Amino acid sequence: MNKFWVGTNWKMTKTIAEGSFYTKELKKIAEKLSNIELFIIPSHTSLVSIKELTENSKIHIGAQNMHWESEGAYTGEISPTMLHEIGMNIVELGHSERRQYYNETDESINKKVIAALKYGMKPLVCIGENSTQKKNNISKETLAAQLIVCLKGLTAEQVKHVMIAYEPVWAIGEDGTPADAAYVEEIHGFLREKLKDLFDSKGNDIPILYGGSVNKENFLEYSKLQDVNGLFIGRAAWDIESFRVILHTLNSQVYR
Ligand code: PGA
Repeated sequence: MNKFWVGTNWKMTKTIAEGSFYTKELKKIAEKLSNIELFIIPSHTSLVSIKELTENSKIHIGAQNMHWESEGAYTGEISPTMLHEIGMNIVELGHSERRQYYNETDESINKKVIAALKYGMKPLVCIGENSTQKKNNISKETLAAQLIVCLKGLTAEQVKHVMIAYEPVWAIGEDGTPADAAYVEEIHGFLREKLKDLFDSKGNDIPILYGGSVNKENFLEYSKLQDVNGLFIGRAAWDIESFRVILHTLNSQVYR
């Protein structure tokens, strides 16, 4: 795979003003990146202004969630039509916080994946086992089930537009513990095999990003692992200076 993806989900941080300042700096950084596909996932209120700011840049913009219906009586939701209208390239689906706090299931994520593809957006499908599943040695079974259901009904042709983010729930956020590199490599290898089982050789074309407490100390090690085709970063990318260091280093080291 010759692209290395690096992106950040801002979660519920950054006002429009804060996000604009950050994005103007990121644009300058992006001009110097030749080996990286860079994306940011702002909150819904910032999407239009951040999209405008990044016109004519190499930065892809995505939304953090959406409904699967194109319109309807779903108060508080945002539709694929609406995201398509404002030129979104990516939509993040099934982040563990959405699963945990808003009861998202693999089945609802599957409907969203199909809707995103219909509107020409790349679904970034987040999967990951929680600490209990890991303790019970059912990480791989859990991840396989998530892949099977979230990607159900997709053709090999469609699936090449999908990206996967493997984010172990126990590694995410303030209380998370960064995963060992060897574990990440083992799981990414497993996911690659599973994708090939499901989609034959097209399974090789699906980028698998790693996320969960990626930081300035560990990003380089993760980036070099087999079948890690990108990094999905939260806190360590929210500060533009910290993200600058990560991006510059990766750009000079990424090789694929
Ligand atoms: P983190 O968040 O890097 O702050 O752990 C990662 C994520 O939730 O995607």
